[in-house]
Amino acid sequence: MSHSTDSRPFFLDCDTGIDDALALVYLLGAGTNLVGIGSVSGNTSAAQGASNTQALLALAGRTDIPVAVGGHDPLEGSYHGGTTHVHGHNGIGDVQLPEITGTPEAMSAAELLVTMARKYPGELRVIAIGPLTNIAAALRLEPNLPALIAELTIMGGAAIAPGNITAVAEANIHGDPLAAAEVFAANWEIVLVPLDVTMHHVLEEDDRLRLLASEHPALSAVGDMLGYYFDFYIGVFGRPCSAMHDPLAAAIAIGRVEALSAPYARVIVDATDGPGRGQTICDMRGLYKGYPKPAGATCRVVLIAQECAMDEIMHSTLALATNISA
Ligand code: BDR
Ligand code: CA
Repeated sequence: MSHSTDSRPFFLDCDTGIDDALALVYLLGAGTNLVGIGSVSGNTSAAQGASNTQALLALAGRTDIPVAVGGHDPLEGSYHGGTTHVHGHNGIGDVQLPEITGTPEAMSAAELLVTMARKYPGELRVIAIGPLTNIAAALRLEPNLPALIAELTIMGGAAIAPGNITAVAEANIHGDPLAAAEVFAANWEIVLVPLDVTMHHVLEEDDRLRLLASEHPALSAVGDMLGYYFDFYIGVFGRPCSAMHDPLAAAIAIGRVEALSAPYARVIVDATDGPGRGQTICDMRGLYKGYPKPAGATCRVVLIAQECAMDEIMHSTLALATNISA
């Protein structure tokens, strides 16, 4: 088990998912104090995502971290069924992990989030790396949630860059636009880590092979999963590698990677059925004036992160194998 060096409490909400899996083992390797994990439908179903998460936690010897199953369907409409061409039929590149023995929490992911927010008022930090269904559901359960949360980091959206599901929409936001609209309309400190920055931080094949060769079963499993993800990204980048969306958001959330450009901007989400559905409309008009903080804006949009992000992610992830947090 890793020795925690950062006692701040974090809640992870994820749709595990291959890059979610790497984000999870990264957070464990970095010694993050994860007090709860929620799963949500996105890359795979919420139930499968929870099972993947629990299996990875078991491999890492961290079954002490509570996992709760979250929303299967978005707030409106039905779950699209997953992105098997990117993440495989089971969400983790069709890699078979050992059967899990434990069961998830009896409460929902939204209830677990609210429970932890009340337990750590003003301290809890949330990292959301899937569709925002559970975060919006938690807001509906506890309208005072923004006052209880120190910071909400979201991997999602596209500020100036193109989307990855439609010309303007990114997968996590497109997965539940109404939930995202409600989350961005609430008054809390948000750090948005969009495609603008995540597409520039790429894990290469030699990194994947280092994970695959690890004697730690969670790390070798993630290295195996990444092979599936890399196959998809060959079509994007022309070589076996992949953008590290979720691990980058995690690294920024825990403060291991600095955002070099993260201007405050007003963000609204298009939840209509038109061509802009799922777009994060980020008002970046401050660009020509050095991005002064717009009145009332509580969302910082990360545009540039430290170049060493991938080194940090590999270093801390591999630290899991030595049982010493990096
Ligand atoms: C996001 O969508 C999912 O496929 C990834 O896990 C990541 O959270 C990238 O658009
Ligand atoms: Ca994800």
